[in-house]
Amino acid sequence: MADTIGGSRGTVSATEFAEAGLHLDVGGGLATITLNRPERRNAMTFATWSALAEIGAGLPPDVRVVVLRGAGPSFSAGVDLRMFQPEGVPGQGSFPALARLDDAEFDQMIAAAQEGFTWLRRPDVVSVAAVQGHAIGAGFQLALACDLRVLAADARLCMKEPTLGLVPDLTGTKPLVDAVGYARALEICLTGRVVGAEEARELGLAELVVPGDGLTEAVRDLCAALLATDRDTATATKRLLQGAAGRTLTEQAACERREQVARMKALFGAGRPGA
Ligand code: ACO
Repeated sequence: MADTIGGSRGTVSATEFAEAGLHLDVGGGLATITLNRPERRNAMTFATWSALAEIGAGLPPDVRVVVLRGAGPSFSAGVDLRMFQPEGVPGQGSFPALARLDDAEFDQMIAAAQEGFTWLRRPDVVSVAAVQGHAIGAGFQLALACDLRVLAADARLCMKEPTLGLVPDLTGTKPLVDAVGYARALEICLTGRVVGAEEARELGLAELVVPGDGLTEAVRDLCAALLATDRDTATATKRLLQGAAGRTLTEQAACERREQVARMKALFGAGRPGA
């Protein structure tokens, strides 16, 4: 476990991660973030999202793969439901209290929470969600924030926010639409129904579905394969693929050329190490 992690937001101690319901392990190019409040099915608060953002901001430069996993039977039951009560979560306030903020302040708070999710898509790391049991609301959105999802056969995904009168606001709507299309995304969100592991795979929400007791091993194998590819090549390839949907074929072809020229120069050009 990393004792501290330092980033643009300052240094965070292991104790602070623990208070936010997280555990962090870093080593061998891999960072494993465990949602670690199994007695509450890894329910999350603003402190959790803030700590996730801190981890992203302070990630050691040798980390190339980030795994998000949950301790216990569920990946995450979403936001801590105590937030809906006036008394809220100690030290975290409550939604009724937050609703009294002015719009700009409230927008800022949500933006800060979203930072806990968005860094998982940055090109220099590949993020993998290892999902068993329930991934509800914010939990589903956290899995969607990752590049890849490996699901145990008992995984149950549910976008519950609209059922509770809220919209999904933790960056989950875009990856959901990108994966399953607008109509299916609308149906999943507005019915609040559970999407099981097999359906998730068919819909493109999971790269892999494995028996429950095989999740750790499957994720370990995937991480080893990801780590075997050269870092700069992986980063350039991720950049290319991430932007592909928003570009025309001509634009994409130009991006491929640009990235390849840089790769070739790094591999074979005069400036390469030892040339
Ligand atoms: N917030 C706070 N506590 C929770 C949450 C949560 N989201 N989910 C579960 N817990 C607590 C339960 O209150 C219970 O505590 P207790 O032992 O003190 O009674 C403990 O975790 C275990 O929960 P169970 O319901 O007994 O566990 P089970 O495995 O049977 O069910 C499930 C798990 C399906 C996740 C169920 O707990 C559930 O439906 N939770 C609420 C999910 C939800 O609505 N989340 C909000 C989504 S919206 C959003 O994230 C923005």
